[in-house]
Amino acid sequence: MYEIYCKSFCDSNGDGIGDLQGVISKLPMLQELGINCIWFTPIFTSPQVDNGYDVADYQNIDPAYGTLDDFKELLLKAHALGIRILLDMVLNHSSDEHRWFLESRKSKDNPYRNYYIWQPPKTDGSEPNNWGNYFLEGNGSAWTFDKATGEYYLHQYSAKMPDLNWEYVPLREEVYRMMRWWLDMGVDGFRFDIFTRFKKPAGFPDTPKSPNALLDRNGFIVDRDMCTCVDGIHEIWQNIHKNVMEGRDIFTIGEGSGINIQNVADYTAQSRKELDTVYHFNLVSRKRPPFTLQQFRTEQTQWAEVMKKDVWTTQYLSNHDQPRMVSRYGSDGQFRVESAKLLAVLVHTMPGTPFLYQGEEIGMTNVAYSCIENYNDRYTVGEYYSMLENGMEAEQALAILQPKSRDNTRTPYQWNASRHAGFTTGTPWLKVNENYPSVNYEADQKSSDSIFAFYQQLIRMRKDHPAIIGGNLEFVLPDHENVLMYLRRYEQETLLIIANKSDCEVPVQVPPELIGKVFRRLLSNRPETVPSLGGRSAWLPWEAEIYCVENP
Ligand code: GLC
Ligand code: CA
Repeated sequence: MYEIYCKSFCDSNGDGIGDLQGVISKLPMLQELGINCIWFTPIFTSPQVDNGYDVADYQNIDPAYGTLDDFKELLLKAHALGIRILLDMVLNHSSDEHRWFLESRKSKDNPYRNYYIWQPPKTDGSEPNNWGNYFLEGNGSAWTFDKATGEYYLHQYSAKMPDLNWEYVPLREEVYRMMRWWLDMGVDGFRFDIFTRFKKPAGFPDTPKSPNALLDRNGFIVDRDMCTCVDGIHEIWQNIHKNVMEGRDIFTIGEGSGINIQNVADYTAQSRKELDTVYHFNLVSRKRPPFTLQQFRTEQTQWAEVMKKDVWTTQYLSNHDQPRMVSRYGSDGQFRVESAKLLAVLVHTMPGTPFLYQGEEIGMTNVAYSCIENYNDRYTVGEYYSMLENGMEAEQALAILQPKSRDNTRTPYQWNASRHAGFTTGTPWLKVNENYPSVNYEADQKSSDSIFAFYQQLIRMRKDHPAIIGGNLEFVLPDHENVLMYLRRYEQETLLIIANKSDCEVPVQVPPELIGKVFRRLLSNRPETVPSLGGRSAWLPWEAEIYCVENP
């Protein structure tokens, strides 16, 4: 799966914004890479308050990206190359500029009133409860007062992104019709945005100050569990499945907090008729410190265990909501190329469908803008001003936010060393990362240790080695601080993967269960002249290798 953030991928007409014709021009490159499915982050008509996660028309393409005809052309051309297309359905909320909301706010008896969640003020005129909005906007509340009707509407994110009311059957039916329309057009499935948050707790109770309450602005508490996995959420998904997915050969994936090994099967087991798979945040979150190898082993082992019970999962280390993986989990200086490849090995050889985010295949890195005005990500901007409000110096706030910002992955794709990295002939909507003269697609293609070529090999390997897809997972050297070593076994085949996730050379250790085995090296991120296992005494920094065990 390859994730495209259209706005930053390739601009075909010089307006500084990536577009569908830009993507069409790069389809052959994607086919060469070997991917067979694209997930587009939202490309629908939108005022772009949250870069498309605020949809104003679910049945049209944002004019900045092109037209419906461009999309149909893209669908046709992608299909001809064996590439499927998933759209990002943002159904927890819409834009406040959506026709439904414009109607809804007009009067209490408007036919669209119940498409959204309205509540009267408390007797003192204040907000219905203490819920805070995730972007820390305005006074911090998740409710905004609307003068026209004297009531508040709910928005878990920006006030410009009102929550839809999934309790209301006409809203559901309209959404089902809309999704069937895309599927009838030939779209191959959907990624569902924050799919665990559609159901709100009955009566809208105040949220207690819990360890999950990350932030608090003016007493409004932002708790990621606030509206997450509330009782009744499964009824919603089973209904969507019945009315939209049933009987179609499509792929669906849910994104949301609150997913864990205990509840994942409830959403994704085939017998449940809800979704095909999900992506979870247990290893990847810009809000927590990077994972340790111990955490990595524990999480992956647990998820692999769950996969034995009719569950299929996903692997990723970065996306449009996270920093660049090579900067966060790798080493983006001297070992940029090696560590980008090592992380790619992990993503492609752990159980589950690998997700690549645009630019990973050329080792794009984080960016550090020197002033807040250069940032676009609403989290970064909201958190910045709330930090200043709490007395922090601007410089310190910026330094804390730079490595976490979602803009790290949203900078324009670096195609070549020309102005603006060849992304646009105009002025890019977000500043290009300054390292583009050396880190770019063209330079990578010319290099003898191309990251792109390494990804191609990895993707091909998944097709040739059933153990990567179907094999069980068994960590060896389970306590090593810097080296991951694991086996993937499936029927006759056993693969051994070794990854030194550190800047240092590490003495080779062969665990007792592998002594006397014969190893054939299939892939390495170091030159072929480096002897294979058994022939040397140290693993090099960020070295990653895949072996086939000939006599398991
Ligand atoms: C999801 C999206 C993120 C967006 C949010 C609100 O987490 O991935 O980009 O800001 O939902 O729609
Ligand atoms: Ca454009």
